[in-house]
Amino acid sequence: MASFVDIPSFFFLLLLLLLCFYPCSSTKHAGCFSKIYSFGDSLTDTGNTHSSEELMAFSHVSEPPYGMTYFHRPTNRFSDGRLVIDFLAQTLGFPLLPPYRDSTADFSHGVNFAVAGGTAIDDEFYVLNRIFNKITFNNALESLQTQLDWFTEFVEGVECKGISLNECKKKMKNALFWVGEIGANDYTRIYGSSFRPDRVRDMAVANTIKFLRAVVGKGAKYIIVQGMPPTGCMAATMAMNKFMPKDDSGCIAGSNQNAALHNKLLLEKLNQFRQQNPGVVVLYADFFNAYLYVQKNARKYGFQEPFKTCCGYGGGLYNFDMKSTCGYPGATKPCTDPTKYINWDGVHLTEAMYSKLASLFFNQSYCQPSFDQLIKSKKCVH
Ligand SMILES: *[C@@H]1O[C@H](CO)[C@@H](O)[C@H](O)[C@H]1NC(C)=O
Repeated sequence: MASFVDIPSFFFLLLLLLLCFYPCSSTKHAGCFSKIYSFGDSLTDTGNTHSSEELMAFSHVSEPPYGMTYFHRPTNRFSDGRLVIDFLAQTLGFPLLPPYRDSTADFSHGVNFAVAGGTAIDDEFYVLNRIFNKITFNNALESLQTQLDWFTEFVEGVECKGISLNECKKKMKNALFWVGEIGANDYTRIYGSSFRPDRVRDMAVANTIKFLRAVVGKGAKYIIVQGMPPTGCMAATMAMNKFMPKDDSGCIAGSNQNAALHNKLLLEKLNQFRQQNPGVVVLYADFFNAYLYVQKNARKYGFQEPFKTCCGYGGGLYNFDMKSTCGYPGATKPCTDPTKYINWDGVHLTEAMYSKLASLFFNQSYCQPSFDQLIKSKKCVH
């Protein structure tokens, strides 16, 4: 009699062991998604932009000390090291995502379409309305629409070449879509013009939703949308608005209010989008509150400088000079220990900060619904 019980229970145990040890052994979520497709601006760009292209300020991304921490060379990431998208790739057990514009790259684990300076609103709109920001931008920036065009080009020309539409959609359903922060550059672009921020907000959010509709139309089923950070806490904003009122986190109140309003509208529209697309799982990555949480607990996280740039010029409260930004030949040098700084170059963050944010997004509750729930809804074994 005993053997009748023992044999099935032996197999049951074996199954349990296999379930537990096989996928958990290397990376917790390895094998969960087939690919990552990523979009956004310089906070997500892993190399689509090079120095001297398009941007006037922050045009030294191909120069040291960019990349000094993890890569030990510039990789055209706007940081000393990895970005949130890099930590997401590593969390899923993938190699780091190559930029779309690197034609020699291996795209078998996904593609990063994010591009520095990227706006939510089409560049044509700004050009037609003669809105040119003199501080940071030239004209002809890539917008979210460009990234959608690149994605379409990739899907039609590579990923789904020669297969049916249905097969293609099935592939897309197995991928994770990361829509990194987009919109901050739109507000920068209208700086000093008579164009109103609330108009930008409406248009930028509408374009983001239009973009989501387009990727869902191609089969996307799992999407994480990242909101705007508290832009009023960036060293560049603080240095250029020294005499503006501060909020209780010590940042420029107006700029943070603007980002909060943007996120509020984005969330409203995301909720509508969820109702209209019940089969799609949409997470909101709360960049704004995650950032402020780390800043409030800066010491606990090992940060000694919540505001000052690690890589800048001029010293003082912010160590930021618009005419001499990070990587500018001769003038700037990085701090000795970037892990003690939240801000890298005035506008972008250090790898240390991105790593803390990634942990809040992917290990804690700063995605709504949570990243764990996403993994469960994908029915990944772990
Ligand atoms: C999440 O937590 C695990 C276990 O502590 C850690 O290994 C991993 O690096 C964390 N992920 C992120 C993105 O911080």
